[in-house]
Order: sequence, then structure tokens, then C-alpha cells
Amino acid sequence: MARLLLNVIYIVVFIVALYKAVGFEGEEQYFKYGMGGWEGLEDEIAMVTTNKSERTPVNVHSFGAVGDGNSDDTQAFIAAWNKACSLRNAVFLVPDGFRYLVRAVNFQGPCMRHLVIQIGGTIVAPDEPENWDAKYPRIWLLFSQLNMASIQGGGIIDGSGSKWWASSCKRNKTNPCRGAPTALTIEKSSMFRVNDLTVQNSQQIQLTIHGSSKVRISNVQVHAPETSPNTDGIHITHSTDVIVQDCQIGTGDDCISIVSGSSNIRMKNINCGPGHGISIGSLGHNNQTETVSGVVLDKATITGTSNGLRIKTWQGGSGYARGFLFENVIMVNVSNPIIIDQFYCDSPTTCRNQTSAVEVSEIIYRNITGTSNTLKAMKFACSNVVPCRNIVLNNIHLEMISNGTKKAETYCNSAVGFAYGHVQPVADCLNAVNCTCHDTQVGASNPKLHFGPHRQPQDVIVHTEL
Ligand SMILES: *[C@@H]1O[C@H](CO)[C@@H](O)[C@H](O)[C@H]1NC(C)=O
Ligand SMILES: *[C@@H]1O[C@H](CO)[C@@H](O)[C@H](O)[C@H]1NC(C)=O
Ligand SMILES: *[C@@H]1O[C@H](CO)[C@@H](O)[C@H](O)[C@H]1NC(C)=O
Ligand SMILES: *[C@@H]1O[C@H](CO)[C@@H](O)[C@H](O)[C@H]1NC(C)=O
Ligand SMILES: *[C@@H]1O[C@H](CO)[C@@H](O)[C@H](O)[C@H]1NC(C)=O
Ligand SMILES: *[C@@H]1O[C@H](CO)[C@@H](O)[C@H](O)[C@H]1NC(C)=O
Ligand SMILES: *[C@@H]1O[C@H](CO)[C@@H](O)[C@H](O)[C@H]1NC(C)=O
Ligand SMILES: *[C@@H]1O[C@H](CO)[C@@H](O)[C@H](O)[C@H]1NC(C)=O
Repeated sequence: MARLLLNVIYIVVFIVALYKAVGFEGEEQYFKYGMGGWEGLEDEIAMVTTNKSERTPVNVHSFGAVGDGNSDDTQAFIAAWNKACSLRNAVFLVPDGFRYLVRAVNFQGPCMRHLVIQIGGTIVAPDEPENWDAKYPRIWLLFSQLNMASIQGGGIIDGSGSKWWASSCKRNKTNPCRGAPTALTIEKSSMFRVNDLTVQNSQQIQLTIHGSSKVRISNVQVHAPETSPNTDGIHITHSTDVIVQDCQIGTGDDCISIVSGSSNIRMKNINCGPGHGISIGSLGHNNQTETVSGVVLDKATITGTSNGLRIKTWQGGSGYARGFLFENVIMVNVSNPIIIDQFYCDSPTTCRNQTSAVEVSEIIYRNITGTSNTLKAMKFACSNVVPCRNIVLNNIHLEMISNGTKKAETYCNSAVGFAYGHVQPVADCLNAVNCTCHDTQVGASNPKLHFGPHRQPQDVIVHTEL
């Protein structure tokens, strides 16, 4: 009885703290929360359409862009960028109705404030991996060191990735495993906004946010075939205060992946599928110490994916993944709707179990409903040495999609937490008494909360594993 009360107090404290940390108390609140100047940016962006007279357009055509899809417009883009970057209130303009062939480019700042990157047309990458600029092995369009800037305009960024996919070691094991470019990268930037854009057919990751803070991605469509390898939709790494909202993502890998050094990440109104679902991790590869904290997902529909809500860590890592709230999610025919996998091993050779692991704790799943394509609709496969703690389930209803007699199940290994309200399939295996964890502290509920920005400077961009 006392324990139940403790649990209830614990989740109330936990949810309040999480909402505060991730700014969940409504849009207004979020933008006011330590984000001076951000509201100003919103106004500036609005002005592009309402008050054009105050803006200085810098059109790529004025610098020699052809826009026929065959001529190389890279130099024109660079020249226009340099001009736009040097002007206050400039609009780097990529008009609609054209198709621009552009090679790998670093659109580097710092620039004058309030730069708007207006992409109306389609920007396409050269499609031949053999001719790719060796200077930028992992980059196609990079926007770096920009403060108060935005990308908008309803245009399309197309990585022309099919030849890269064909040469992937995931497609054919005789191919060497090597990285491929990310279509759009936002790096070392703050108060950056991307609104109304399509990113498709990237060589590898579609959109990466790296080493940045106060980034808002909205109304972004991401498309790549289900069979395209490692084409994560939106990849967030070493970044804080990131919002992803109203996005539709279908790819061959994770719709959204959040990896090390990231905190205060909020996702809202996400449509995901096909793909591998919404993932935190992988973390802890090659015995690394990695951390992610303060992640909220509110309202998502996940359809036909191999995972729904996934936390994935490698054996041998350290660090933590904690303070996550996933709520109001509809699963449609998802293979592993709810999964914590601490035995993640995306490697041609098997991974040995080791004596350390990334610590997973304070994870709430609330109002998650729909259908599972596998028996184990909820899977908490946690490390034997570092059990998952404080896993909380509330109002869960997951059923098998197939019309057989088999009912969905919950699987636990070394996972401790509790369920309240309607929870189906039942999750008794989360009870501490059932845990065969080799750890004496397992039963202890620890209401200490761990939030706040966490930064870990890192110069190399680490993309997903191969
Ligand atoms: C639009 O520009 C005009 C002329 O510069 C200015 O007087 C007006 O205040 C601007 N409107 C807004 C909404 O900023
Ligand atoms: C894989 O690549 C090798 C060497 O390029 C080729 O011989 C083989 O046919 C390919 N296999 C498949 C399944 O495409
Ligand atoms: C990780 O640590 C284990 C145990 O100390 C060691 O056997 C293994 O080689 C290490 N792996 C890497 C990639 O460093
Ligand atoms: C549960 O989530 C669904 C899907 O987002 C939503 O329509 C519904 O209103 C939520 N129910 C509650 C009680 O919040
Ligand atoms: C569920 O997805 C699987 C493939 O993942 C597919 O074969 C099956 O037809 C789907 N079932 C329904 C009812 O959509
Ligand atoms: C690692 O441990 C898990 C849980 O005890 C077990 O299911 C799995 O088979 C082990 N893997 C290896 C490679 O020993
Ligand atoms: C399951 O089978 C029943 C009766 O055969 C049918 O009415 C129902 O639509 C089926 N449900 C699904 C999800 O296929
Ligand atoms: C877990 O323990 C409870 C009693 O606390 C028991 O009713 C339940 O069957 C156990 N579940 C499993 C999977 O062992």
C-alpha cells in the first residue's frame, strides 16, 4: 500500500518535472522558456510574406544559376550565399518552378541575423557516388554556424540516393561498409527553424541536427523507399531544445533518431511509417559513454514499421537514457510497438554480453493503443548488470493484428517499474520481485530526477552505425 502511494507520488513529480524541463506547458510557454530572441525570429519570418519591402532578396539566378536540373549550379549557389550572408534581412532565394543540380556545399555562417533561406524549387544532388566530392564524404547540403536563421518555402531537397543505396553493405554484403552523405545538415547553429520543406531520397540520413540548440522543425515531409538503407528521417545528435512537430516521415530506417549528447527534445504530431519507428539510440557502441535525457513525444501515428517506440543500447556502453515520456500514440501493424533493447547489435558479427551498459530509467508510456505485428507487443530487454528502472505504463492497449487466438504479451528481462490504469497486455513482469537482476538496489524507487541540458562537445559528426 505504502509502496503504491510512493509510486503515485513519484509519477506526479516526474511528469511535472518533465513537462517543465521540456517545456510542455503549451507553445507560448516553450518559446518564452529561456529563449530570448526566438519570438523575434518568428516575427521576422512572418514578415517575409507580409512585409517584403523590408527584405533583400538574393536570387540564385542573379549569380548564374540555370535551374534546368543538368547544369551545375553549385558556384551560383555559393556566390549567392556569400552575398546573402553579408546582408541584414536577406532572403537567399531558390525560386520555385526550377530544378537545381548542386554538389556538396557548406553554407557557412556566421551571417547577418535573420537570414531566410527560401527554397521554392527542387535542389537535386549528383547521383553518382564515384564522382562525389571527397572533401565532403558525409555531407551534401550543410548549413553551419548560423544564429537566427530559417529555411522555408515548400521546396524539395532530393538526394538522388538510389546508386548509394545499391552500393550499401546492407544491400549486398560484398560491398564495403562506408558512410554516405546526409542530405540536409544543420550544425553548430541556434535559433534555427525549418518549416515547410520536403527532404527525400537522401544518400543516407535525410536531415541531421548536430551540435545545435533551439531548433524547430515543422511541416517537414520526409520520403525514401522502405528498402533504402540507413536513411533515417530526422537525426538529432549533441543538440538541446529541439522541437519536431507536424512532420510526416516514411523511410528505410528510423523516422526520428535521437542520439548522444541530446536533451530537451520534444516531438509532436508525428506521422511515421514505413521505417524503423521513433528511436532513442543507439547508445553505447564501442564501449562509449553516451547520454540522452528529457524527451517527450506527444501524438503520433506509427504505421507498418519494424519498431514503434524504441530505446536501443549496445552491450559494453555506459552513460544513461532517462526522463522520457511517450504519450497518445497509435500503432498500426507495428512489429515491436514498445521496445527497450539493451542487446542491440547492428553488426555482421555477434555482440558478446558485457559487464557494463547504458542505464535506462524514468520512462513513461501513456495512452498507447493499436496493433502489434508480433506476439511481444511490449518488450523490455534490459541489461542483466544494469537493470532498467522506473518504467511506467498507463492506459496501454495493444492487440495482435492477426486474427488468430494468440494474445499479445509483455516480455521483461531485468526491468523494473509499474503499471496503472488499463494495461493490456498485462505487465506483471515489471514487478521487482520477478526481476532476476543481479543487483541489490533493484527494488528501490529513486525519485531523483535528472534533466537539464547536457552537452558533450564533439567535432566529428557521428551518424548512425553501419
Ligand atoms: C512594413 O514596412 C513598413 C515600411 O517600412 C513599416 O512602416 C511597417 O511597420 C512594416 N510592417 C510590419 C508589420 O513590420
Ligand atoms: C553483390 O555484389 C557482388 C559484387 O559486386 C555481385 O557479384 C553480386 O551479384 C551481388 N549480389 C546481389 C544479391 O546483388
Ligand atoms: C569493450 O570492452 C570489453 C571489455 O573490457 C573489451 O573486451 C572490448 O574489446 C571493448 N570493445 C571495444 C570496441 O573497445
Ligand atoms: C489517446 O491518444 C489518442 C491518439 O493520439 C487521442 O486521440 C486520445 O484523445 C488520447 N486519449 C486520452 C485520454 O488522452
Ligand atoms: C502487417 O504488416 C505486414 C508486414 O510487416 C504485412 O505482411 C501484413 O499484411 C500487414 N497486415 C495488415 C493487416 O495490414
Ligand atoms: C545476453 O544476455 C541475454 C539476457 O540474459 C541473453 O538472452 C542473451 O542470449 C545473451 N547473449 C549472448 C550473446 O550471450
Ligand atoms: C477477424 O475475423 C473476424 C471474423 O472472422 C472478422 O469479422 C474481423 O474483421 C477480423 N478482424 C481483422 C482485424 O482481420
Ligand atoms: C510476477 O509477480 C506477480 C506477483 O507479484 C505474479 O502474480 C506474476 O504472475 C509474476 N509474473 C511473472 C511473469 O512472473
